Amino acid sequence: MSDPAQARLTELLAAGRVPGRLLYEAPGQAERWLAYHRAWAPAGRAASTLAALYDAAFEAAWSALDAGPVTCVGLGCGGGAKDARFFTLGPAGQPARYVAADASPELVSTALAAVAAARPDVTGHGVVFDLMAPPPRGELLGPGEHPRVVWSCLGILPNVDADHLLPLLARLARPRDAVLLSTNLSPAPYPDAVPRIVPQYDNDQARAWYQGALAALGAADARLTVGHRALTPSGAVWRVEATAEVAGQRLEIFHSDRYLPEAMPALFAQHGLTLEGAWVAEDREEGTYLLRVTDRPGPAASST
Ligand SMILES: C[S@@+](CC[C@H](N)C(=O)[O-])C[C@H]1O[C@@H](n2cnc3c(N)ncnc32)[C@H](O)[C@@H]1O
Repeated sequence: MSDPAQARLTELLAAGRVPGRLLYEAPGQAERWLAYHRAWAPAGRAASTLAALYDAAFEAAWSALDAGPVTCVGLGCGGGAKDARFFTLGPAGQPARYVAADASPELVSTALAAVAAARPDVTGHGVVFDLMAPPPRGELLGPGEHPRVVWSCLGILPNVDADHLLPLLARLARPRDAVLLSTNLSPAPYPDAVPRIVPQYDNDQARAWYQGALAALGAADARLTVGHRALTPSGAVWRVEATAEVAGQRLEIFHSDRYLPEAMPALFAQHGLTLEGAWVAEDREEGTYLLRVTDRPGPAASST
Protein backbone atom coordinates (compact mmCIF):
# COMPACT_ATOMS: atom_id res chain seq x y z
CA MET A 1 0.00 0.00 0.00
CA SER A 2 1.30 3.52 -0.82
CA ASP A 3 2.28 5.77 2.07
CA PRO A 4 -0.66 8.23 1.72
CA ALA A 5 -3.12 5.29 1.62
CA GLN A 6 -1.44 3.74 4.68
CA ALA A 7 -1.56 7.09 6.48
CA ARG A 8 -5.27 7.42 5.70
CA LEU A 9 -6.01 3.94 7.01
CA THR A 10 -4.00 4.60 10.18
CA GLU A 11 -5.97 7.82 10.72
CA LEU A 12 -9.31 6.01 10.26
CA LEU A 13 -8.23 3.19 12.57
CA ALA A 14 -7.42 5.79 15.23
CA ALA A 15 -10.92 7.30 14.76
CA GLY A 16 -12.43 3.80 14.74
CA ARG A 17 -14.85 4.75 12.01
CA VAL A 18 -14.97 5.22 8.23
CA PRO A 19 -16.78 8.47 7.29
CA GLY A 20 -20.18 7.58 5.79
CA ARG A 21 -19.52 9.37 2.52
CA LEU A 22 -16.57 7.08 1.70
CA LEU A 23 -19.03 4.25 1.19
CA TYR A 24 -20.51 6.19 -1.72
CA GLU A 25 -17.70 8.28 -3.22
CA ALA A 26 -14.91 5.68 -3.65
CA PRO A 27 -14.60 4.26 -7.19
CA GLY A 28 -17.35 1.79 -8.09
CA GLN A 29 -19.21 2.40 -4.83
CA ALA A 30 -22.12 4.32 -6.39
CA GLU A 31 -22.89 1.30 -8.62
CA ARG A 32 -22.50 -1.14 -5.70
CA TRP A 33 -24.85 0.95 -3.57
CA LEU A 34 -27.41 1.28 -6.40
CA ALA A 35 -27.31 -2.53 -6.90
CA TYR A 36 -27.82 -3.09 -3.15
CA HIS A 37 -30.56 -0.46 -3.03
CA ARG A 38 -32.39 -2.07 -5.97
CA ALA A 39 -32.23 -5.50 -4.36
CA TRP A 40 -32.99 -4.62 -0.73
CA ALA A 41 -34.33 -1.10 -0.14
CA PRO A 42 -37.90 -1.16 1.16
CA ALA A 43 -38.98 0.69 -2.00
CA GLY A 44 -38.13 -2.49 -3.93
CA ARG A 45 -39.94 -4.79 -1.51
CA ALA A 46 -43.33 -3.12 -1.33
CA ALA A 47 -43.09 -0.59 -4.09
CA SER A 48 -46.70 0.54 -4.33
CA THR A 49 -47.25 0.95 -0.57
CA LEU A 50 -44.04 2.88 -0.14
CA ALA A 51 -44.61 5.01 -3.21
CA ALA A 52 -47.93 6.04 -1.64
CA LEU A 53 -46.11 6.98 1.57
CA TYR A 54 -43.74 9.28 -0.31
CA ASP A 55 -46.46 10.64 -2.59
CA ALA A 56 -48.56 11.63 0.44
CA ALA A 57 -45.65 13.57 1.96
CA PHE A 58 -44.71 15.19 -1.39
CA GLU A 59 -48.29 16.27 -2.05
CA ALA A 60 -48.56 17.71 1.46
CA ALA A 61 -45.33 19.65 0.89
CA TRP A 62 -46.60 21.11 -2.42
CA SER A 63 -49.91 22.11 -0.74
CA ALA A 64 -48.03 23.78 2.10
CA LEU A 65 -46.00 25.97 -0.29
CA ASP A 66 -47.49 29.21 -1.51
CA ALA A 67 -47.45 29.94 -5.25
CA GLY A 68 -44.20 31.10 -6.83
CA PRO A 69 -40.77 29.72 -7.66
CA VAL A 70 -39.72 26.66 -5.66
CA THR A 71 -36.22 25.32 -5.07
CA CYS A 72 -35.88 21.71 -3.94
CA VAL A 73 -32.53 20.68 -2.47
CA GLY A 74 -31.84 16.95 -2.43
CA LEU A 75 -29.50 16.61 0.56
CA GLY A 76 -27.77 13.26 0.00
CA CYS A 77 -29.80 12.95 -3.20
CA GLY A 78 -28.57 9.47 -4.19
CA GLY A 79 -29.87 8.53 -7.63
CA GLY A 80 -32.56 11.25 -7.36
CA ALA A 81 -35.54 8.95 -8.09
CA LYS A 82 -37.53 10.25 -5.12
CA ASP A 83 -36.72 13.89 -5.84
CA ALA A 84 -37.81 13.33 -9.46
CA ARG A 85 -41.12 11.99 -8.16
CA PHE A 86 -41.48 15.08 -5.95
CA PHE A 87 -41.24 17.32 -9.03
CA THR A 88 -43.64 15.14 -11.02
CA LEU A 89 -46.32 15.82 -8.39
CA GLY A 90 -45.83 19.60 -8.50
CA PRO A 91 -48.12 21.94 -10.42
CA ALA A 92 -47.10 22.15 -14.08
CA GLY A 93 -45.81 25.56 -15.01
CA GLN A 94 -44.66 26.55 -11.50
CA PRO A 95 -41.05 27.71 -11.90
CA ALA A 96 -38.80 25.26 -10.11
CA ARG A 97 -35.12 24.61 -9.45
CA TYR A 98 -33.41 21.48 -8.24
CA VAL A 99 -30.16 21.32 -6.32
CA ALA A 100 -28.70 17.79 -6.31
CA ALA A 101 -26.29 17.63 -3.36
CA ASP A 102 -24.30 14.53 -2.49
CA ALA A 103 -20.82 13.32 -1.57
CA SER A 104 -20.69 11.31 -4.79
CA PRO A 105 -20.21 13.28 -8.04
CA GLU A 106 -21.58 10.27 -9.91
CA LEU A 107 -24.81 10.28 -7.90
CA VAL A 108 -25.15 14.06 -8.32
CA SER A 109 -25.09 13.59 -12.12
CA THR A 110 -27.51 10.64 -11.92
CA ALA A 111 -29.94 12.67 -9.80
CA LEU A 112 -29.78 15.72 -12.11
CA ALA A 113 -30.53 13.43 -15.07
CA ALA A 114 -33.44 11.76 -13.22
CA VAL A 115 -35.06 15.11 -12.43
CA ALA A 116 -34.43 16.46 -15.95
CA ALA A 117 -36.12 13.36 -17.41
CA ALA A 118 -39.15 13.77 -15.11
CA ARG A 119 -39.52 17.55 -15.46
CA PRO A 120 -37.42 19.04 -18.31
CA ASP A 121 -38.55 22.55 -17.30
CA VAL A 122 -36.81 22.33 -13.89
CA THR A 123 -33.44 24.07 -13.76
CA GLY A 124 -30.76 21.82 -12.24
CA HIS A 125 -27.63 22.61 -10.25
CA GLY A 126 -25.21 20.07 -8.73
CA VAL A 127 -23.23 20.37 -5.49
CA VAL A 128 -20.66 17.82 -4.32
CA PHE A 129 -20.42 18.28 -0.57
CA ASP A 130 -19.98 16.68 2.82
CA LEU A 131 -23.01 16.65 5.09
CA MET A 132 -20.63 16.59 8.05
CA ALA A 133 -19.21 20.01 7.05
CA PRO A 134 -21.80 21.55 4.71
CA PRO A 135 -21.44 24.95 3.06
CA PRO A 136 -23.79 27.75 4.20
CA ARG A 137 -27.38 27.91 2.94
CA GLY A 138 -26.63 30.51 0.25
CA GLU A 139 -23.81 28.45 -1.21
CA LEU A 140 -25.93 25.30 -1.36
CA LEU A 141 -28.81 27.10 -3.04
CA GLY A 142 -26.69 28.90 -5.62
CA PRO A 143 -27.16 32.40 -7.02
CA GLY A 144 -30.49 34.23 -7.20
CA GLU A 145 -33.55 34.43 -5.00
CA HIS A 146 -34.94 31.31 -3.34
CA PRO A 147 -38.19 32.40 -1.75
CA ARG A 148 -39.49 28.85 -1.10
CA VAL A 149 -37.15 25.98 -0.42
CA VAL A 150 -37.97 22.33 0.11
CA TRP A 151 -35.17 20.45 1.85
CA SER A 152 -35.42 16.84 0.75
CA CYS A 153 -33.55 14.71 3.26
CA LEU A 154 -34.59 11.20 2.40
CA GLY A 155 -33.00 8.10 3.83
CA ILE A 156 -30.13 10.00 5.48
CA LEU A 157 -31.12 9.90 9.15
CA PRO A 158 -30.21 6.25 9.66
CA ASN A 159 -26.61 6.89 8.55
CA VAL A 160 -25.94 10.40 9.83
CA ASP A 161 -26.52 10.77 13.56
CA ALA A 162 -29.71 12.60 14.50
CA ASP A 163 -27.69 14.91 16.78
CA HIS A 164 -25.86 16.20 13.71
CA LEU A 165 -28.51 15.99 11.00
CA LEU A 166 -31.54 17.50 12.75
CA PRO A 167 -29.74 20.63 14.06
CA LEU A 168 -28.27 21.04 10.55
CA LEU A 169 -31.76 21.00 9.00
CA ALA A 170 -33.01 23.42 11.65
CA ARG A 171 -30.14 25.79 10.75
CA LEU A 172 -30.50 25.51 6.97
CA ALA A 173 -34.29 25.89 6.78
CA ARG A 174 -36.23 29.12 7.26
CA PRO A 175 -39.81 29.27 8.52
CA ARG A 176 -41.30 29.49 4.99
CA ASP A 177 -39.37 26.41 3.86
CA ALA A 178 -40.55 22.83 4.09
CA VAL A 179 -38.40 19.91 5.19
CA LEU A 180 -39.16 16.45 3.84
CA LEU A 181 -37.48 13.72 5.82
CA SER A 182 -37.79 9.98 5.51
CA THR A 183 -36.21 7.30 7.58
CA ASN A 184 -36.11 3.59 8.16
CA LEU A 185 -37.92 2.71 11.35
CA SER A 186 -38.07 -0.21 13.71
CA PRO A 187 -41.41 -2.00 13.84
CA ALA A 188 -40.71 -3.20 17.39
CA PRO A 189 -38.15 -2.36 20.10
CA TYR A 190 -34.73 -3.99 20.26
CA PRO A 191 -34.16 -6.92 20.18
CA ASP A 192 -37.58 -8.10 18.92
CA ALA A 193 -37.12 -6.42 15.53
CA VAL A 194 -33.66 -7.91 14.88
CA PRO A 195 -34.75 -10.92 12.75
CA ARG A 196 -36.80 -8.65 10.47
CA ILE A 197 -34.26 -5.87 10.03
CA VAL A 198 -30.72 -7.25 10.20
CA PRO A 199 -30.92 -9.46 7.05
CA GLN A 200 -31.43 -6.22 5.08
CA TYR A 201 -27.86 -5.26 6.07
CA ASP A 202 -26.27 -8.68 6.07
CA ASN A 203 -26.57 -10.03 2.55
CA ASP A 204 -24.36 -10.46 -0.53
CA GLN A 205 -25.09 -7.03 -2.06
CA ALA A 206 -24.57 -5.17 1.24
CA ARG A 207 -21.35 -7.04 1.95
CA ALA A 208 -20.05 -6.26 -1.57
CA TRP A 209 -20.74 -2.59 -0.84
CA TYR A 210 -18.96 -2.61 2.56
CA GLN A 211 -16.11 -4.64 1.08
CA GLY A 212 -15.75 -2.12 -1.78
CA ALA A 213 -15.06 0.63 0.77
CA LEU A 214 -12.53 -1.58 2.55
CA ALA A 215 -10.82 -2.32 -0.77
CA ALA A 216 -10.59 1.43 -1.47
CA LEU A 217 -8.76 1.74 1.86
CA GLY A 218 -6.35 -1.03 0.93
CA ALA A 219 -7.92 -3.47 3.41
CA ALA A 220 -9.83 -5.75 1.03
CA ASP A 221 -9.01 -8.87 3.07
CA ALA A 222 -10.34 -7.59 6.39
CA ARG A 223 -12.94 -9.76 8.11
CA LEU A 224 -16.41 -8.19 8.15
CA THR A 225 -19.03 -8.65 10.87
CA VAL A 226 -22.60 -7.32 10.88
CA GLY A 227 -23.80 -6.81 14.47
CA HIS A 228 -26.40 -4.83 16.42
CA ARG A 229 -26.99 -3.16 19.81
CA ALA A 230 -29.52 -1.01 21.66
CA LEU A 231 -28.80 2.74 21.84
CA THR A 232 -31.42 3.48 24.50
CA PRO A 233 -32.28 1.38 27.58
CA SER A 234 -35.87 0.89 26.31
CA GLY A 235 -34.62 -0.39 22.94
CA ALA A 236 -36.66 2.31 21.12
CA VAL A 237 -33.49 3.29 19.24
CA TRP A 238 -30.97 0.69 18.13
CA ARG A 239 -28.12 0.28 15.68
CA VAL A 240 -27.09 -2.22 13.02
CA GLU A 241 -23.36 -1.93 12.42
CA ALA A 242 -20.92 -3.44 9.97
CA THR A 243 -17.42 -3.59 11.38
CA ALA A 244 -14.13 -4.96 10.14
CA GLU A 245 -11.05 -6.13 11.91
CA VAL A 246 -8.05 -4.42 10.36
CA ALA A 247 -4.54 -4.94 11.75
CA GLY A 248 -6.13 -6.25 14.96
CA GLN A 249 -8.25 -3.11 15.39
CA ARG A 250 -12.02 -2.64 15.12
CA LEU A 251 -13.14 -0.31 12.34
CA GLU A 252 -16.80 0.67 11.89
CA ILE A 253 -17.62 0.65 8.18
CA PHE A 254 -21.33 1.42 8.27
CA HIS A 255 -24.16 1.83 10.69
CA SER A 256 -27.88 2.32 10.43
CA ASP A 257 -29.96 3.53 13.38
CA ARG A 258 -33.52 2.32 13.68
CA TYR A 259 -36.18 4.27 15.60
CA LEU A 260 -39.56 3.15 16.88
CA PRO A 261 -42.17 5.28 15.06
CA GLU A 262 -43.39 6.53 18.46
CA ALA A 263 -39.94 8.01 19.19
CA MET A 264 -39.93 10.37 16.17
CA PRO A 265 -42.16 13.31 17.28
CA ALA A 266 -40.11 13.94 20.44
CA LEU A 267 -36.86 13.65 18.48
CA PHE A 268 -37.99 16.34 16.00
CA ALA A 269 -39.33 18.63 18.76
CA GLN A 270 -36.05 18.36 20.67
CA HIS A 271 -34.28 19.93 17.68
CA GLY A 272 -36.79 22.73 16.99
CA LEU A 273 -38.53 21.01 14.09
CA THR A 274 -42.33 21.17 14.02
CA LEU A 275 -44.05 18.06 12.72
CA GLU A 276 -46.71 18.97 10.14
CA GLY A 277 -47.41 15.51 8.78
CA ALA A 278 -46.28 11.92 9.35
CA TRP A 279 -46.89 8.90 7.15
CA VAL A 280 -45.75 5.57 8.56
CA ALA A 281 -45.78 2.36 6.50
CA GLU A 282 -48.14 -0.35 7.62
CA ASP A 283 -45.17 -2.62 8.39
CA ARG A 284 -43.71 0.23 10.53
CA GLU A 285 -40.35 -0.06 8.76
CA GLU A 286 -40.32 3.36 7.09
CA GLY A 287 -41.80 6.78 7.66
CA THR A 288 -42.00 10.06 5.76
CA TYR A 289 -42.32 13.36 7.59
CA LEU A 290 -43.15 16.94 6.67
CA LEU A 291 -41.44 19.39 9.00
CA ARG A 292 -40.96 23.10 9.43
CA VAL A 293 -38.65 25.11 11.59
CA THR A 294 -40.17 27.23 14.27
CA ASP A 295 -39.76 30.95 13.74
CA ARG A 296 -36.64 32.09 15.55
CA PRO A 297 -36.01 35.65 16.57
CA GLY A 298 -32.83 37.47 15.66
CA PRO A 299 -30.11 36.97 13.06
CA ALA A 300 -29.74 33.19 13.69
CA ALA A 301 -32.63 32.62 11.26
CA SER A 302 -30.66 34.02 8.36
CA SER A 303 -27.29 32.41 8.99
CA THR A 304 -25.82 29.15 7.58
C1 LIG B 1 -29.27 5.89 1.76
S1 LIG B 1 -28.78 6.98 0.49
C2 LIG B 1 -30.28 7.93 0.22
C3 LIG B 1 -30.37 8.49 -1.17
C4 LIG B 1 -31.66 9.18 -1.56
N1 LIG B 1 -31.89 10.39 -0.77
C5 LIG B 1 -32.83 8.23 -1.47
O1 LIG B 1 -33.61 8.35 -0.55
O2 LIG B 1 -32.93 7.35 -2.32
C6 LIG B 1 -27.68 8.08 1.28
C7 LIG B 1 -27.09 9.14 0.37
O3 LIG B 1 -26.40 10.06 1.18
C8 LIG B 1 -25.14 10.36 0.61
N2 LIG B 1 -24.22 10.66 1.70
C9 LIG B 1 -23.83 9.83 2.71
N3 LIG B 1 -22.97 10.46 3.54
C10 LIG B 1 -22.84 11.72 3.03
C11 LIG B 1 -22.10 12.85 3.45
N4 LIG B 1 -21.33 12.84 4.53
N5 LIG B 1 -22.19 13.97 2.71
C12 LIG B 1 -22.97 14.02 1.60
N6 LIG B 1 -23.71 12.98 1.16
C13 LIG B 1 -23.64 11.84 1.87
C14 LIG B 1 -24.74 9.11 -0.15
O4 LIG B 1 -23.81 9.37 -1.17
C15 LIG B 1 -26.10 8.61 -0.65
O5 LIG B 1 -26.40 9.12 -1.92
